[in-house]
Amino acid sequence: MVKIGIVGLGTVGTSVVKVLQKNRDIITSRAGKEIMPVRAVVKNLNKKRDVDIELTDDYKKVTRDSEIDIVVELMGGVEEAYKVVSDALKHGKAVVTANKALLAYHRFELQKLAKTPFEYEASVAGGIPVIKALRDGLSANHIEEIQGIINGTCNYILSEMKKGRDYSDVLKEAQVLGYAEADPTFDVGGFDAAHKLLILASIAYNIDAKPEDILIEGIENINLVDIEFAKEFGYEIKLLGIAKKDNNKIELRVHPTLIPQSKMIAKVEGVMNAVSVIGDVVGETMYYGPGAGGDATASAVISDIIEIARGQNKPMLGYKKPLEIEKLTLKTPDEIETKYYLRIAVNDEIGVLEKIAHILAKNDISIESFLQKPRDGFVKLLFATHKSIEKNVKNAIKEIEKEKFVIKPINYIRIEE
Ligand code: NDP
Ligand code: HSE
Repeated sequence: MVKIGIVGLGTVGTSVVKVLQKNRDIITSRAGKEIMPVRAVVKNLNKKRDVDIELTDDYKKVTRDSEIDIVVELMGGVEEAYKVVSDALKHGKAVVTANKALLAYHRFELQKLAKTPFEYEASVAGGIPVIKALRDGLSANHIEEIQGIINGTCNYILSEMKKGRDYSDVLKEAQVLGYAEADPTFDVGGFDAAHKLLILASIAYNIDAKPEDILIEGIENINLVDIEFAKEFGYEIKLLGIAKKDNNKIELRVHPTLIPQSKMIAKVEGVMNAVSVIGDVVGETMYYGPGAGGDATASAVISDIIEIARGQNKPMLGYKKPLEIEKLTLKTPDEIETKYYLRIAVNDEIGVLEKIAHILAKNDISIESFLQKPRDGFVKLLFATHKSIEKNVKNAIKEIEKEKFVIKPINYIRIEE
């Protein structure tokens, strides 16, 4: 028998206990041993629970109990979770976590600390086994690019907004459905997707970057005009996490992205996630499934528990020895090169277009397409550019915004084709 202690009995923790009971027969037979949840750590001992398990509010009763084999961390947060997980590792426990925020900051330290198995399948893309795919299934490949819809809450919001629904109503619904983080600004601000992207980038490139090092933009400023423009030009708007290898540099970024409607990833709707991984040997592979919610996440957490119960112990980030031939460095956000969509609200005056086109050209930005939309008393100019350097685009935006005919800050969305 394998005994587990669960730290955190919220949306995911509760589902883990329920699924361990519901699918006990198949889990026992796949693991070769019975898996028994013996105790759960919670913050509030007085809260009513949906599952019957011994409770404590002292994490050491799990991390230091000699009867417990695996500590399953499902509490969230960064530093407190780090304290719990490192205490578990120091006391010889195997660890399973779904906590991407913890891993975004401490994955390399935890890798050093872990002498016992450490698994984290649920930390990226909920129920999709993308960590196992990248770390094991694609281990013969150099990874050229990863593109993913890796935040279920944002994808749910963007999908519902296309139906004309209000952003804040849909966000509240995503919270009720158990998709959102305890603090949903992590979702809509792009930080949760960035945490997941950093985990994928560590497996793909062994790169130790922190969220502060990469470009992160959320979906808070996306509005119906952008959605209308996207439709009109044959695009979908998705929050994408992108990791690209460009010679010996790695580009990591998270932002709302215009994707051609014909691409598979553009068709991913609702809470579903999808991750495309391009390997130099295999070509493009694609992983699709539910990215958030109790049961989807429990499916991934329990797969890790089964793997550990079977006696498997893999290098946490997939490298037995660090790569020495390839010294990869991170591109700064300014160096990123992609296409852009610009939305500029201006007074309807002679010479406005000429002035904007001149500033764009001066900054080495070429216009691919253009649309003008009259609004009450002003016009909206919508530009799509050819591939341009992020720094040039930011400079051009600053310069255009100084013109008197510009009546609001300029909105922009990057395009990936
Ligand atoms: P919840 O907020 O629903 O649950 C958190 C649980 O942790 C609660 O039981 C809470 O106790 C407990 N907890 C929080 N802080 C402490 C503490 N200091 N000491 C003891 N217990 C504590 O979160 P979720 O279940 O949604 O998420 C858990 C983890 O899984 C997070 O890292 C999240 O990012 C990750 N995750 C979540 C997914 C989802 O779809 N929800 C998907 C993939 C990953 P109490 O009940 O008493 O308040
Ligand atoms: N809040 C996260 C999301 C949960 O919406 O994707 C899954 O990691």
